[in-house]
Amino acid sequence: MSALTFAGKPFQMTPNPHPATAERRAAILADPGFGKNFSDHMIQSTWTTEGGWGPAELKPYGPLTLDPAAAVLHYAQEIFEGLKAYRHADGSIWSFRPEANAARLQRSARRLALPELATEDFMAAIEALVAADCAWVPESAPGQERSYYLRPFMYASEPFLGVRPAATIEFLLIGCPVGSYFSGGVRPVSIWLSSAYTRAARGGTGEAKCGGNYAASLAPMLEAGEHGCDQVCFLDAAENRWVEELGGMNLYFVTRDGRLITPELGTILEGVTRSSILVLAKELGLEVEERKVDIAEWREGVAGGEVTEVFACGTAAVITPVGKLVWDGGEVVSRNAGAEDSVTMRLRRTLVDIQYGRATDTHGWMRRLA
Ligand code: COI
Repeated sequence: MSALTFAGKPFQMTPNPHPATAERRAAILADPGFGKNFSDHMIQSTWTTEGGWGPAELKPYGPLTLDPAAAVLHYAQEIFEGLKAYRHADGSIWSFRPEANAARLQRSARRLALPELATEDFMAAIEALVAADCAWVPESAPGQERSYYLRPFMYASEPFLGVRPAATIEFLLIGCPVGSYFSGGVRPVSIWLSSAYTRAARGGTGEAKCGGNYAASLAPMLEAGEHGCDQVCFLDAAENRWVEELGGMNLYFVTRDGRLITPELGTILEGVTRSSILVLAKELGLEVEERKVDIAEWREGVAGGEVTEVFACGTAAVITPVGKLVWDGGEVVSRNAGAEDSVTMRLRRTLVDIQYGRATDTHGWMRRLA
């Protein structure tokens, strides 16, 4: 722990003098929900144009001070990541492909004109927070899938109203114990197909993990809720024809003849779960296709039985079966959604068994944190 450095400087340690009581922590760990209860510490480092990244401080989790003119509040110069720490049966704590999240944060930073954070500093921040708050990493019985969700993020803190990349930037890392993202555990979710809204256009920020993409999905999400759906699906902005992604997760389709199809990259987020599934599916004997997916292929494919399963995936969602697609004037139901012997659930078990250390990590994806 003491050997950890960030930007070549030792971590500054300010332990929380008032950590949660063991009783409160135990109550949260028993029923964590998603993204509601945060652990005792957080990490912060400030970047300036002149000095680069300053030392990182591990300090009590708590509110930030922000100048009302901070650029992020006006021009949304902000990016984030999401990854999980998993407690294995022997008590050790691991993360899944964290270098892929570090690399995506660097790509997002380039798109939002933010400074890049080196992979080794990203890793050091995660190790430092997990070491300090390891008691917050839940134990997880098979089927429970509890974990500690890590949320690294970066924002423009410089107080300045001119539109240009800010000269002062904050990097923070917070974490919280989590259960399943959707209430009710692993169950088939329903999707509203948005025709009024799109998520990203060519050349836009669709591939970056920036808060603005998620803010723009909220009005469509309200629309989804009004139609009784859990999530919204966006089509491409040019032709309103090609399936892109959901509000916060990627999509996959399973066909009757054993193919697994996912929308190609370009304007969608390159999900770490998405790319891991591409590898695992081939090993399960599925033929994998990354290509444009016509919305008609989904609607008519499910109705006619060509498309046997649809699922969503992401760090938060893991792999979640899609039970229904609803649009203005119709709906189509995937009858096999969530069945134990479905391709969706087989892929899900394969992935989570690696993440929780129940299966051999033949790909070298797991990194020990504590
Ligand atoms: C994640 O899957 O980690 C995300 O950042 C998506 C968000 C819907 C929670």
